[in-house]
Amino acid sequence: MCGIFGYVGELENSPSVILEGLKLLEYRGYDSWGIAVGNDRHIVCEKQVGKIGNAVLKSDVLNLKSNIGIGHTRWATHGMVTDANAHPHLSCDRQIAVVHNGIVENFNSLKKKLEKKHEFYSDTDTEVIAHLIEQELKTKPLKEAVVSAFKKLKGLNAIAVLSQEGEIVVAKNGSPLVLGAGDSSYYVASDPSALISYTKKAIFIEDQQLAVLNKKGIQVFSLENGKKVASKIQTLQGEVADTLPGEYAHFMLKEINEQPKVIRSVVEVLTDSAVDMAREIKAARGTFFIASGTAFHACLAGTYLFSKIAGHHVNTSVASEFNYLEDFLNPKSLVIALSQSGETIDVVEPLNRAAKKGAKIAAVVNNLGSTIYRMGDIKVLLGAGPEIAVASTKAYVAKIAFLLLVAYSLVGKTSTAKRLLRQSANEIERLLRKSDLEKIKKTAKFLAKAEHIYTIGRGLSYSTALESALKIKEVSYIHTEGLAGGELKHGTIALVSRGTPCLVYAPSDETYEAIISNATEIKSRGGFIIGIGSKKADVFDEWIEVKDTGDASLISMVVPAQLLAYYLALEKGADPDKPRNLAKSVTVK
Ligand code: F6R
Repeated sequence: MCGIFGYVGELENSPSVILEGLKLLEYRGYDSWGIAVGNDRHIVCEKQVGKIGNAVLKSDVLNLKSNIGIGHTRWATHGMVTDANAHPHLSCDRQIAVVHNGIVENFNSLKKKLEKKHEFYSDTDTEVIAHLIEQELKTKPLKEAVVSAFKKLKGLNAIAVLSQEGEIVVAKNGSPLVLGAGDSSYYVASDPSALISYTKKAIFIEDQQLAVLNKKGIQVFSLENGKKVASKIQTLQGEVADTLPGEYAHFMLKEINEQPKVIRSVVEVLTDSAVDMAREIKAARGTFFIASGTAFHACLAGTYLFSKIAGHHVNTSVASEFNYLEDFLNPKSLVIALSQSGETIDVVEPLNRAAKKGAKIAAVVNNLGSTIYRMGDIKVLLGAGPEIAVASTKAYVAKIAFLLLVAYSLVGKTSTAKRLLRQSANEIERLLRKSDLEKIKKTAKFLAKAEHIYTIGRGLSYSTALESALKIKEVSYIHTEGLAGGELKHGTIALVSRGTPCLVYAPSDETYEAIISNATEIKSRGGFIIGIGSKKADVFDEWIEVKDTGDASLISMVVPAQLLAYYLALEKGADPDKPRNLAKSVTVK
C-alpha cells in the first residue's frame, strides 16, 4: 500500500531513475504519484493524478541534473485523490520533501499545533511529518530532527525524507522498507522487486531503525538510542525479467502462465521444508492457520487437505478476526501465517499477539526479508517469484502445493504428493494451450453480460469456489459470490433466476454426486450451469474439462476461473493488473 522509492549516487540522472523505480512499485498504489529531486540549489517536485504507467516527466524536472531524489505511488488514505494530496510533501521552506507509507494516527492533534506556524497545502497526514521535521530542524541536525519527529508519530509508518543538503533519511515502524547498495549508488524501496534492476545487495531495515543514505553510502541507526547498528547485506533472488510482463499483455496473464513452473519448483525446493513443517504440526498442541483474502482461501484448502489426507485437525481463521479468537493460545500452539507479500498488516498484528503469548510462529511467504518472514520462528519461502498483478494467482497455487506436500508428509507419503503435483502442473499446461484458451475467452464474452455470478463447490472444491468468486469480482467488477454447494438452498438460491450463471466445481471425488444435485437445483430455477471437472454431466450447459489429478485437482481447477477473471476484465475494459480501489500489499488496517 503506497510505494516509496529513493536514490542517491554519483550519476546525475535521479529523475529518470526514480520514475523507473516507481513504475516497478505501481502495483502498491495507483491513485497518483510524485517525485522530488534535489541539487545544490533547490528541491523540484512533480506530482500527477492517475497511474504512473507510461508517464513522462515534465522537461524541467526530467532535465534537472540531480543525483538524489525520492518518489511515491499513492493509495489514498487521508485526503481525496488530487495533485495536492499526492506525495512528496514539502516543508514551508522547501528544504525537505517527505514520502510516506502508513497512517499517522495522531495527525489531527499534531496538525492543530503546527498550523499556527506552518502553512498546509493538502489534507494528508503525511504533510504533518514534513512540517514536524521542519520544526525540529530549527534546533537539530537532520538525522536527529527526523528521529525526534518520527517518535512523535503514532501508528505504523515508513518515511523517506529528502534533504536539500544531499541526504535521504528513512525511518521505519511497521511499514516495509528495504535499502539497496549498488556501485556508488544507493537506493530505498518499499519492496525488493524494485531494486533488482539496480542491485542485488539489500539491507532489510527493522522496525525502530533509521538509515541515512548519501553519496558515500548507507548507515543504519537505532531509533531508540541513536546508536549505529551493524546491518546485514542479503542477496536478492530473481532477475530483472521477473519484474517485466515480457511476451504477455499483462502481469496477471504472465503469472497464470508461470504456475506450472511454480508448482514444479515447490516440489523440487520445498519438500524438506514440508517434511519439517509436518513434524512441527505433529509436535504442536493446536495448529492455527491465518491469512487474508486469497491466502486465506489457501489456508481453508489446507484444512480440508489435512483432514482428508492425514486425518489431522487444524484451525483456520481470517487473520483480521484472529485477534478475537486467540485467547486459548499458549507456548505449545503453532500459528502458521500464509502471505504472498509478507507485509499484510491484518496478519502481522495477530502474529505479534501470538508471539507475545509464546506461540511458535511459522511464516510461509513469497517475499524474502518481509515483515512476516522475519517474524517466523520457522521460515518458508514459496519461491513463486515476484507477483506483480494485484490479483494473486501463482502465489495461491504455490501455497496450496506446499500444503499438499505437508499433508502427505504427515502420513509419510511425501512422494505421492510430488507425483500428484507434477500431474497437476502438466494439466495446467494443457489448460493454457491456445485451443483451450479460445473456449474460455468465448465463455468470458458470454459471462460479461451477467450482473451476478455464483460459484459453488464442496469439500476440497469449497475453497476453489471462494477463490474463483474473489478473482472474478476483483478484476471484472461483476458481483460474484462463492458458496459451499450445500449452502445455496439456505438462502442465496432466492437470487437465481432465468440465465443466472453458476460455476459448479465437480471433481471426480466424494463430492461429485452431491454437487451435481446442487447444480440441478439451480438449473430447475433457470440457472445457467458451467461445470468444471473431469466428467461431463447432463446438467452442464457448458463444460470446462479439467483432468483428474487426485487431491491436487483443486490446484488445476482454479485455473479456468483465473483465466475467466482475466478475460472478463478485458471484456469489461478494465485493467486486470490494477483493479480499482485495491493495492497489492495491504499495510494499513
Ligand atoms: C486477491 C488478493 C488478496 C491477497 C490478500 C493477502 O487476489 O491478492 O486477497 O491475497 O490481500 O495478501 P498477502 O498474501 O500478501 O498477505
